[in-house]
Amino acid sequence: MKIPIIIDNKMVKVDRGTPVLLAARKADIFIPTLCYHELLEPYGACRLCIVEVVQNRQRRLVTSCNYPAEPGMEVFTDTDPVRKIRKVLVELLLARCSEVPVVQKLARRMGIETSELKKKETKECVLCGLCVRFCEEVVSVSAIGLSNRGIEREVTTPFKTASDTCIGCGSCSYICPTGCIEMVPDKTPGMREMHMGKLTLEPCTNHYQCENCSTDQQFLNNLKKEVTRFRDTFSRFRNQES
Ligand code: SF4
Ligand code: SF4
Ligand code: FES
Repeated sequence: MKIPIIIDNKMVKVDRGTPVLLAARKADIFIPTLCYHELLEPYGACRLCIVEVVQNRQRRLVTSCNYPAEPGMEVFTDTDPVRKIRKVLVELLLARCSEVPVVQKLARRMGIETSELKKKETKECVLCGLCVRFCEEVVSVSAIGLSNRGIEREVTTPFKTASDTCIGCGSCSYICPTGCIEMVPDKTPGMREMHMGKLTLEPCTNHYQCENCSTDQQFLNNLKKEVTRFRDTFSRFRNQES
């Protein structure tokens, strides 16, 4: 069922339950994101997509990528509290990943030049979790995960040892917005293995016999499913626009 919601004084009609972020995109309203991807379940990790929502006379801050549009809702994407929170988040990102182009671009777009926070060791990973979720939700092998807390938080394999479940598909490398995962040639001609900082994931334990590998088939099935889901969402949006 289509419902009207108001975003920054613009009325937009979307299906009930559509994430507020997508409703805003439909209305051509920019909301920054780092951990959102159309093919994956919203995760709510980076919090950059924060907006203020007024619902049942209550005003609160929510992450728009995983907050559903409901009738009577009003959304504000550029208020003082929203700007303040985003500024702190971007400054933290700049302090951690000052050299990463996607972070620099985001900061520039939000008018933030430098971070007042003390710079720690520069890292390339923005901890968006896209690689981990793609590996889990689409490839279905969960070869990598996020571990530790605070500044020690990182993407790695269980026990930081070489993974025997990674199939070397390269999806994590393609989806990573910062380029900190590399696929490099493996000893087997034409094949690759995955490098992340000092960590190397073992290449395929099935010796790349993809045609009789259940993991590979599962991956292809999931990928097909995700692409169909994306196409359906996209055509629903196109229909809503027309
Ligand atoms: S290359 Fe390995 S870690 Fe990366 S998505 Fe594929 S299976 Fe997962
Ligand atoms: S390695 Fe890349 S995709 Fe994975 S969490 Fe870090 S920045 Fe995101
Ligand atoms: S895009 Fe919504 S929390 Fe990251």
